[in-house]
Amino acid sequence: MPTPGVSNPRPGGGSGPSLRIEIVSEATVEDWQFVHNRVIPGAPLAEYEVRERLGRNFLTVAYVGDDVVGCATVRAPDETGNVTVIARVLPEYRRRGYGEELFLDGMRLARSVGGTAIETVVLASNHDGLRFALEHGFAEVDRYLPPGDENPFITLRLRWL
Ligand SMILES: CC(C)(COP(=O)(O)OP(=O)(O)OC[C@H]1O[C@@H](n2cnc3c(N)ncnc32)[C@H](O)[C@@H]1OP(=O)(O)O)[C@@H](O)C(=O)NCCC(=O)NCCS
Repeated sequence: MPTPGVSNPRPGGGSGPSLRIEIVSEATVEDWQFVHNRVIPGAPLAEYEVRERLGRNFLTVAYVGDDVVGCATVRAPDETGNVTVIARVLPEYRRRGYGEELFLDGMRLARSVGGTAIETVVLASNHDGLRFALEHGFAEVDRYLPPGDENPFITLRLRWL
């Protein structure tokens, strides 16, 4: 399996520190949780829920220098063989290419675990996320509206697999 941790030059050719992607460890569970809950405030996860996911998913967290800027989830194949990749970047760090790096790192992980298709999940209200997924070749296959909620989670599948 490839090891996350790409060390690409900063997008745009700037001289600042590059994005560092790490597999989540005991020491970084709270960083992953912080990004997740800022990006998806309507469905926050408690620390024990993140630890539970750590046991069955691949979780990565991304830094620029000492600052946490994003995180990603790669879910192992489900019963139908679908592998799910979700990249998240804090709003104040978006549009600098970090989402692309996190997503591509997640795609490498997803391909290494096998499966028959790659999916992602985006909140309908998250226009940045939806546009990003559509531009990366995903197409909507399902919607899930949590009880009492008005903002569905949209599942999208990579079209050419
Ligand atoms: C989807 C998400 C991860 C994208 O993160 P991001 O860091 O903004 O992504 P990128 O910077 O790589 O790309 C976003 C845009 O910035 C542009 N961009 C990239 N580098 C840039 C730069 N240096 N300067 C200006 N624009 C840049 C990209 O071309 C892209 O433009 P487009 O959307 O018009 O095509 C982020 O919006 C997010 O966290 N959304 C919520 C979570 C979510 O829905 N995830 C599901 C998708 S897997």
